[in-house]
Amino acid sequence: MAFVIKVNGNSHSVDVDGDTPLLWVLRDVLGMTGTKFGCGAALCGACTVHVDGVATRSCVTPIDSVGSSEITTIEAIGATAAGAKIQKAWLDLEVVQCGYCQSGQIMSASALLASNSHPTDADIDEAMSGNICRCGTYLRIRDAIKQAAQSSGQGG
Ligand code: FES
Ligand code: FES
Repeated sequence: MAFVIKVNGNSHSVDVDGDTPLLWVLRDVLGMTGTKFGCGAALCGACTVHVDGVATRSCVTPIDSVGSSEITTIEAIGATAAGAKIQKAWLDLEVVQCGYCQSGQIMSASALLASNSHPTDADIDEAMSGNICRCGTYLRIRDAIKQAAQSSGQGG
């Protein structure tokens, strides 16, 4: 079945079953491999993208539920104000270790910062609690989100 989805500002027509997870459409059909597969069951956060600005687990999001929503992936998050601040802070604080979880971490952090320009520790913990990191980068992630929030005073 054909679906037209909007990804990073571009429309794409894809011919897949309606229950195909958005993750596999992004990776296998559109070749956008920045979004990672971890658990396939909404438990790890590796597959996080934004659907109309909301951090969403693409592994459990069937393509027929997406409709005309705006999907944003790690490939384009740096073009948003919040995403650019998050990515800069990630680099400044050298957050990444193996990197596997980090696309999802950055997408969750960017959604948080876009909706809350001065998140508290509790806000950060709540927003990031579904993103698992086997390398244990949690403290640097929290510090980087705080730095990104301080970098403008406006959020965005
Ligand atoms: S792969 Fe989607 S939450 Fe783990
Ligand atoms: S940086 Fe390795 S799993 Fe998070």
